[in-house]
Amino acid sequence: MRLRPSVPLLLATLLLPAAALAQSTPAFTPPTPAQIRTAATPATDLTWYNHAVIYEIYPRSFQDTNGDGIGDLNGITERLPYLQALGVDAIWIAPMYPSPQVDFGYDISDYTAVDLQYGTLADFDRLLAAARDRHLRVLLDMVLNHTSDRHPWFLDSASSRTNPHADWYCWSDGVSPNSPNVTDYQKRFTVQSDRGPVVPPNNWESLFGGSAWQWVPARQQFYYHKFYRQQPDLNWRNPAVEKAMFDAMRFWLDRGVAGFRLDAITTLFEDPQLRNEPVAAPGLNAQGDPILSDIYTDNLPEVHGVLRRMRAMTDAYPAGAYPNARVLIGETYLPNTAALLPWYGTPAQPELQLPMDMFVGFHPEGGVPGPNVNLSLAHFRQSLSDMETQLDGHQPLLVFDNHDNPRSWDRFGDGETPDNKLRIAKLIATILYTTRSTALTYYGAELGMTTHTPTRKEDVRDPIGITGWPAEKGRDGERTPMQWSPLPPSASFSSNAHPWLPIGSDYPTVNVQTETGQPDTLLTWTHDLIDLRRGYPALHDGGIVMLDTANPSVLSYVRKGPDGSAILVSLNFTDQPQTVHLDLAAAGVGNHYTWVHMDANAQFGPLYTLSPLTLPPYAALITGVK
Ligand code: GLC
Ligand code: CA
Repeated sequence: MRLRPSVPLLLATLLLPAAALAQSTPAFTPPTPAQIRTAATPATDLTWYNHAVIYEIYPRSFQDTNGDGIGDLNGITERLPYLQALGVDAIWIAPMYPSPQVDFGYDISDYTAVDLQYGTLADFDRLLAAARDRHLRVLLDMVLNHTSDRHPWFLDSASSRTNPHADWYCWSDGVSPNSPNVTDYQKRFTVQSDRGPVVPPNNWESLFGGSAWQWVPARQQFYYHKFYRQQPDLNWRNPAVEKAMFDAMRFWLDRGVAGFRLDAITTLFEDPQLRNEPVAAPGLNAQGDPILSDIYTDNLPEVHGVLRRMRAMTDAYPAGAYPNARVLIGETYLPNTAALLPWYGTPAQPELQLPMDMFVGFHPEGGVPGPNVNLSLAHFRQSLSDMETQLDGHQPLLVFDNHDNPRSWDRFGDGETPDNKLRIAKLIATILYTTRSTALTYYGAELGMTTHTPTRKEDVRDPIGITGWPAEKGRDGERTPMQWSPLPPSASFSSNAHPWLPIGSDYPTVNVQTETGQPDTLLTWTHDLIDLRRGYPALHDGGIVMLDTANPSVLSYVRKGPDGSAILVSLNFTDQPQTVHLDLAAAGVGNHYTWVHMDANAQFGPLYTLSPLTLPPYAALITGVK
């Protein structure tokens, strides 16, 4: 149903305009492989990451090669040809280090090894070499805010107040339940100490539910954890912590990784005075806790000092087999685009090359991230324009999918027909790959994989879905295995019929094998978009000019390349046909198209003129203009 046979239609629409307007409008000629240079090869600047397509791999769910139902590093190596053919420049592998897997790898017990579930260090080195042969860079996930509570540093730290790691985590004696400012919430966590009853030192909450403080009898103290209690926060005020973590990063840089995605980087520091967080809203959150602000546990200014020193470390790093810089990418959930600016640092003291702009993809209209948010043209237009005006020319990084949020297919296509969901997914992909942003995508987004949230509590694997059920069902839905083929039992993800999470029920139609080479699939659309981005200077290096900015239904912009070439993108955000009158002269280009890349659903008839232009429902038009 989603895959409509449209080859003849597509051909007709490509050929007709050329016949009709032979002088000014040659038909679209796809770039030859020779014309398509590696996108991440710098054209006008020295920074590969400005052009890159970065593909996040959740290693548990990408490809299993040993039949245990859990993905592994050899599986990633096996699938590199697919990633290269798609046009990916770099892969980011979510944590594959030894871990008790409470938070599926984000609780690390050894920063310089590979978890046996995923393979060995030798497998990792083979993966790195195979990736390099295919011009793919490998980025690792670096979890700096916390370790696992099974990490030897923490075991040591928790054992007494006088061991070598005693000050590596955030310890507090707590306070008497009768002291001033103690909230009722704190009193819920009263423990019996040698000194009588004590409560956590303040009202801080774990993002994953409950108090952020956990009592340890051996120390007669609480430790702080922003995430699960099995993820104690490191004390970044202790220089030994910074040194140990930078050493761990060097271990991987020495092996040849091209950089890191820095997990939860905004949370490294907390208020030394341990002040209570103010209440941000009445009522309780999905975990049943009061809704607090996070001014004392997030975004503290001290983190920028760490990032400057880290960037100095990675910048000094030899480029090795890769041309140009190693890259630092930040997981930066911030309230608006302008708030990203400090995370780039200054020219004299640079910090992250790419703080993630989560605001565009996850906070439509400044609302609460999560499911059922609607596609909002005003939000996208404002954000794309803010990226140009509020980041001092720094490189933006857009993200629409990751392992922590329901898939964009469902968020933006909510309530739509299957055909419209596909068209909307193509709009989102078009924004990701044809704006000036570095593109960060997540395995399966290119297929239109959907969110498969568990329907029974006993099936939930993500602990926040267990503690928060049913208000919070956890993140399993966006972590189901990659759908490679229509073959039972496990879509070629694994020979095991019972992988760690069930295969999405739509795998017979939504999978790599079925979608490859088919004219109107999301996979083909994504592949073609990446080819265009690689092949055409206007998309690869060009600036962006927004057009028709008062139009409530159609988002239009022109990318202009350093060679004078230009590409128009026009996206209909509604389920009705829309006619636009574009002032192309305002973007300094003429009203003629040079070639056309149609919507793969072949929604367009022949294009005789670019203005006025009628766009079918949810249509995406990308066309060269001159
Ligand atoms: C980040 C990760 C998330 C993890 C958390 C704690 O937000 O993306 O998956 O649970 O940090 O490490
Ligand atoms: Ca912290």
